[in-house]
Amino acid sequence: MAGFDVERVRADFPILGKTSNGKRLAYLDSAATAQKPKRVIDAVSDYYRGYNANIHRGMYDISVRATNAYTESKELIARFINAPSYRDIVYCRNTTEAINLVALSWAERHVKKGDSILITEMEHHSNIVPWQMLARRKGAKLEYTKLTKDLGIDMEHYKAMLEHGPKLVAFTHVSNVLGVINDAKEMTRLAHSHGATVLLDGAQSVPHTRVDVGDIGCDFMAFSGHKMLGPAGVGVLYGREDLLEEMEPVYGGGDMIRSVSFESCEWNELPWKFEAGTQNIEGAIGLGEAVKYINSIGMGSMQRHEKGLLEYALGVFEGIDDVRLYNKAGAGKRSAIIPFNVDGIHAHDVSAVFDSEGIAIRAGHHCAMPLVNSVMHEDSVARISLYLYNTRDEIDRAAAAMEKARALFLRR
Ligand SMILES: Cc1ncc(COP(=O)(O)O)c(C=O)c1O
Repeated sequence: MAGFDVERVRADFPILGKTSNGKRLAYLDSAATAQKPKRVIDAVSDYYRGYNANIHRGMYDISVRATNAYTESKELIARFINAPSYRDIVYCRNTTEAINLVALSWAERHVKKGDSILITEMEHHSNIVPWQMLARRKGAKLEYTKLTKDLGIDMEHYKAMLEHGPKLVAFTHVSNVLGVINDAKEMTRLAHSHGATVLLDGAQSVPHTRVDVGDIGCDFMAFSGHKMLGPAGVGVLYGREDLLEEMEPVYGGGDMIRSVSFESCEWNELPWKFEAGTQNIEGAIGLGEAVKYINSIGMGSMQRHEKGLLEYALGVFEGIDDVRLYNKAGAGKRSAIIPFNVDGIHAHDVSAVFDSEGIAIRAGHHCAMPLVNSVMHEDSVARISLYLYNTRDEIDRAAAAMEKARALFLRR
């Protein structure tokens, strides 16, 4: 696509033409889940209408076509994140399941009593709870890298925590609450220099920027299809091939075995040994189509659009009385996520006012209660999150909704 024409992009997303509460829908919650372009919707429906069959099993035409489409989706994902091969791409349900797979397989074997696991104070629950569960099972310690007062990773504290020799370091590339972009390459380098294995949570980065696992050097990366224009129910675990090879599968059943006798079984080759039972075939096909769509737009163009919109939004919102913005990372270090509160109004009330104007935003703890409650000292935060299909007009409508909330709740 020559240049970036947001109206042309919007025309690809059927839902953006709809209304909500009688107003034109303004969808500002893409960090929760992204909308789907027609191409993705059609790819899923074409599978059901044209070649619905199980994969890896049938010798007949439509089963072979389904198998090829499923594998092609993995090849597209591998190229998208610069993984060496589709063998390194395990499909799961979502980021959460991908992280749990590492906890239940790699960490189950390698983390022993008294060992430590290091995460950060800005993690999503899906990158906290599996490690709390593991630590409890193993008698291991879960440690947290602190944030600076500007709500970024405190790199000095990170280095100090690495001195404890954690077995695993797991951190988010982009915070779903703060939008801050962490220096994944440097954090990975430091963790490796202390002998740790690194898991990167790419849920909020892979949909918005070119994430190159080869360049970053992480050992594992987890992300979700539904946040990158693909269907829900399909997510990705990327793993370094030698690590995946030595890992035990978590689920046993059909398709993950090469042979089974009454006494024993032999695992299938990568990546199939981790994919027991019938998979989310239509989801994988839709995800492959989402990658093709993003490639056709160009990640660079998308990113420039989102960055322009973010800077515009921050400028507009900064001028509104009582609005507190929590984005403190400098330009270039923030993704298009805008956490805010309106002083004196609960975030849920703010969100309800937005909803009455047809604007979808999220309010709450954003599945990051430790960060929101104990670091930001809030019980609830409102969040606007942007994607390639958002416009300045929607930002202006959000600003008007903030003013409306002030007028309704803050009678002074
Ligand atoms: C940073 C981050 N990690 C993990 C997740 C979990 O993703 P999912 O619910 O798709 O498993 C999210 C979802 O919001 C997220 O933002």
